[in-house]
Amino acid sequence: MEYEDEENSRLEMKNQIKQMVRQVFELELAGHRDARDLYKEELAGMLIRTDDGSFTLFSEERNNEEESLHSKYGAFSESYEKFANPSKLKEKSKSKFDIRVLDICSGIGYNASAIVDLLKDDAIELEIDMVESSIETLAATLFIPDLNEAHTYIKKYVESYLIEKGYLQYNKVLSNIPSNLHINIHIVDARDFIKNLSKDVTYDAVFLDPFSPDKSPELYSVDFFKQLHNHLESDGLILTYSAASAVRSAFVHAGLDIGEGPEFHRSGGTVASKDVNMIDKPLSFDDVKMIALSDVGIPYIDPDLSDNYDNIINRRQEKREKARFNYLFPSSSKLPLYLGVNPEEISDENLRNKLNSYVQQMGFTSLNDPRILAILDIDKTLSSKDQILSLHEQLSNILGL
Ligand SMILES: C[S@@+](CC[C@H](N)C(=O)[O-])C[C@H]1O[C@@H](n2cnc3c(N)ncnc32)[C@H](O)[C@@H]1O
Repeated sequence: MEYEDEENSRLEMKNQIKQMVRQVFELELAGHRDARDLYKEELAGMLIRTDDGSFTLFSEERNNEEESLHSKYGAFSESYEKFANPSKLKEKSKSKFDIRVLDICSGIGYNASAIVDLLKDDAIELEIDMVESSIETLAATLFIPDLNEAHTYIKKYVESYLIEKGYLQYNKVLSNIPSNLHINIHIVDARDFIKNLSKDVTYDAVFLDPFSPDKSPELYSVDFFKQLHNHLESDGLILTYSAASAVRSAFVHAGLDIGEGPEFHRSGGTVASKDVNMIDKPLSFDDVKMIALSDVGIPYIDPDLSDNYDNIINRRQEKREKARFNYLFPSSSKLPLYLGVNPEEISDENLRNKLNSYVQQMGFTSLNDPRILAILDIDKTLSSKDQILSLHEQLSNILGL
């Protein structure tokens, strides 16, 4: 059996766990009926129990850090709170019969299990495209203790896929998949999946669940989000746990309205839609200023959806360096939050001097220079997207760019 080159630039589950899964594949294909049972305990030793009793796994290292696939506060609770519930599909299923979900970075299938569980009693046809780059991570699903009935349906789909593709050969998962549930598994880089997706396919919800943006930037670029935009229903929602300025600005540059995602231990996350009425909670004006006026709001770019990690990271870094003090304020010391403030009100003298020197390097007299006040003078009843675009335009006009 051929496996993907481990030097690919995507961040995935630990190689040590991948190796174990491959050994299970080999043994089962060699005719060992109990191969999965043989490795059950060893694999269980790699699982991390999160606060709600559900499990997660760790990634390989990137920048000397490993990242868990889910929140330590509760892997499955996070799937419910950050993806299934805020997708608004429970309400939508009352008026729409065919519901389609794109589950990007499907991992061990918790997000898919959460939405199936949420909609299990509804009279709908539910179709989910699960997209995951690592076949071993998909297969690890079979070793995760059952959460609920919905989770066993996902496991059954995973097992059938692995048998169909020749990785396993025995039917061992006991589950009766309901006839109104349709799951398509795609083992591929999510960028290739979306590039090759037929134009007429649209989704009611997109679960965007890669590792964090500085570790998996390829799935947070403007270019990737433009593709998601093309495949989103007019009232569809994209959900991510990331609240990073670069991610939010990428949504705006892709033409999407944005708002705060629901709180779950980690920061609130972000929701995006083509329809501003689908957004319940706009961003705070502080967040809007950070995104629109400082270098931290420069998004990731991946023009052909095929660049490697280093190129995507370095391209943004170079842009930030060029922009800082030239056409954008620096994000250092959270400068954008102090724009318009009377410097006398900043009691910390060091901070006051630092912030004033930053704006002076850009040709302003102080933090409350009348031209800064003019930049900030936008219509606050606008949507978060339009506030970001207006502020950005005002800054460019004042700087004569
Ligand atoms: C944070 S985990 C997702 C957890 C998952 N949503 C769940 O419910 O279990 C991120 C996953 O993204 C996958 N991944 C990383 N880069 C990818 C890419 N470019 N395309 C598709 N999947 C990717 C990793 O293999 C990993 O399983």
